[in-house]
Amino acid sequence: MDHTAPLILPSLLASDWSNIGAEVKRAEDAGARWLHLDVMDGAFVDNISFGPQMVQVVRKCTDMYLDAHLMIHRPDHYLDRFIKAGAQNITIHVEARYDTSVAETLRRIRAAGRHCGIALHPSTPFEAALPYVNDIDLLLVMTVVPGFGGQAFMEKETMPKLAAARDHRDKHGLKFHLEVDGGIYTTTAPIAKQHGANLFVCGTSSFGPPDMRQSMSELAASVA
Ligand code: DX5
Ligand code: ZN
Repeated sequence: MDHTAPLILPSLLASDWSNIGAEVKRAEDAGARWLHLDVMDGAFVDNISFGPQMVQVVRKCTDMYLDAHLMIHRPDHYLDRFIKAGAQNITIHVEARYDTSVAETLRRIRAAGRHCGIALHPSTPFEAALPYVNDIDLLLVMTVVPGFGGQAFMEKETMPKLAAARDHRDKHGLKFHLEVDGGIYTTTAPIAKQHGANLFVCGTSSFGPPDMRQSMSELAASVA
């Protein structure tokens, strides 16, 4: 997909887990093409969500593109399980602990024929991504402190960094997507778009309202 085309990605974290298969279908029927999967280990972030087994369950329910966001330490140790589970993009945090390294983990993701991304915590500067920008399909600029859905968009702390990433990418003819995640609504998505984002992860704002078709189309219209 073109790295400038805007796309809304529902985050499964905000869905009704008592009916996960139906929720995946609800997202698909509402027009989603990519689904965002938030993996949390209770160590890198202060919350525990789900692991590769859930990714595999979702894989069985849909052909949507699965975007796995690993908020975990030692992503290199767990990597093969997420690849096997069928994630098409795997995003790892530069701040996590590695048995090997960020670069080696990205190399392995690509060697498996999957797309790879790196994520930056709100307090991590864009410079931390610089060693990897030639090797990624996606840069995720977190717009909340990772760990929980339903938090407020950190505009001041993150938008200058997003714009810096966009400017660096365009100046060097690179082609990675710019993804934002956390506090994205019809009010904040256009601000993120203005600063360079094209992938908008939406949890509460997509799965929250009863009519997801409507929430997805309003979100899409806000960044069209
Ligand atoms: C936060 C997660 C997000 C979360 C976003 O740690 O990475 O993907 O689901 O939720 P909302 O859209 O509710 O802020
Ligand atoms: Zn996420």
